Amino acid sequence: MRILLTGRNGQVGYELERVLSVLGEVLATDRSGLDLAVPDAIRRVVREAKPDLIVNAGAYTAVDRAESEPDTAMRVNAVAPGILAEEARRHGALLVHFSTDYVFDGTQGSPYAESDAPNPLNVYGKTKLEGERRLAASGCRHLLLRTSWVYAARGKNFFLTIARKALAGEPLRVVSDQHGVPTEARFLAENAIALLQRGEEGTFHVVPSGATTWYGFASAIVSQLDSTSAVQAIRSDEYPTPARRPRYSVLDHAKLSKSIGTPPPWDALLDRCVRSWTPA
Ligand SMILES: NC(=O)c1ccc[n+]([C@@H]2O[C@H](COP(=O)([O-])OP(=O)(O)OC[C@H]3O[C@@H](n4cnc5c(N)ncnc54)[C@H](OP(=O)(O)O)[C@@H]3O)[C@@H](O)[C@H]2O)c1
Repeated sequence: MRILLTGRNGQVGYELERVLSVLGEVLATDRSGLDLAVPDAIRRVVREAKPDLIVNAGAYTAVDRAESEPDTAMRVNAVAPGILAEEARRHGALLVHFSTDYVFDGTQGSPYAESDAPNPLNVYGKTKLEGERRLAASGCRHLLLRTSWVYAARGKNFFLTIARKALAGEPLRVVSDQHGVPTEARFLAENAIALLQRGEEGTFHVVPSGATTWYGFASAIVSQLDSTSAVQAIRSDEYPTPARRPRYSVLDHAKLSKSIGTPPPWDALLDRCVRSWTPA
């Protein structure tokens, strides 16, 4: 099988490149090999690669910056997946695409199932939802994986920010009124492969078991690193950001569990990530 991967340097793309080879020959691209903001480049690369499987791990993920760069976010998060989907349909390829808990507004108060109605609060969420809609409208065979609060031992993410401050013994102030599920990038990549191996298609929420707040996530990082940093819980309005975020964006993983088994708890995966991390 020929596999075209985008976003190979991202948190999820990096992990995917390592596990996709069990399925076939991987052509992994970064921004220089395939700029997702350039529609003709997408068509050209797909037509040259003639993939059986396209895995789109590239995305515009700067949630706050998207508020002031909506056009770029739209090109990468909505127009690009739409073109990949058209090309996938044309070539009979399967498209794996990723989306976010931020398509939901957080008012439901219980975990969001795949069938729950989205209503994004910020530009990033709106562009990701538009990407989902273009994917569905194309009629291509697809696997759409929604996830949340992605982190890894490399890249730029909440885990690394907190871990570095914790090792320096710095005090931390972290919001405690936003609920979600921290998701290790490697867990997401491994579950994408497992779903592909089972022949699944359609939409799945791919997150570990359990849920927490950013404060709970930070406290767990501090505790696993045996840091002496004090972690203070604050409200979202004490930490203003350009983008509004949902107060409760826990994704329900029942459909995932039914297909490949109950996922491990989020903090067990955090432990794995901490153990794999070498502080610079
Ligand atoms: N991060 C999260 O918390 C989170 C939460 C929910 C869902 N997701 C979704 O999960 C997927 C993977 O996210 P991630 O966490 O791995 O994101 P990430 O670490 O920010 O990686 C995104 C990758 O996309 C690439 N990219 C951005 N613009 C591009 C362009 N114009 N052309 C080609 N490549 C481009 C980036 O390249 P450069 O390295 O050159 O910038 C980067 O390698 C995305 O669909 C994201 O929306 C992420």
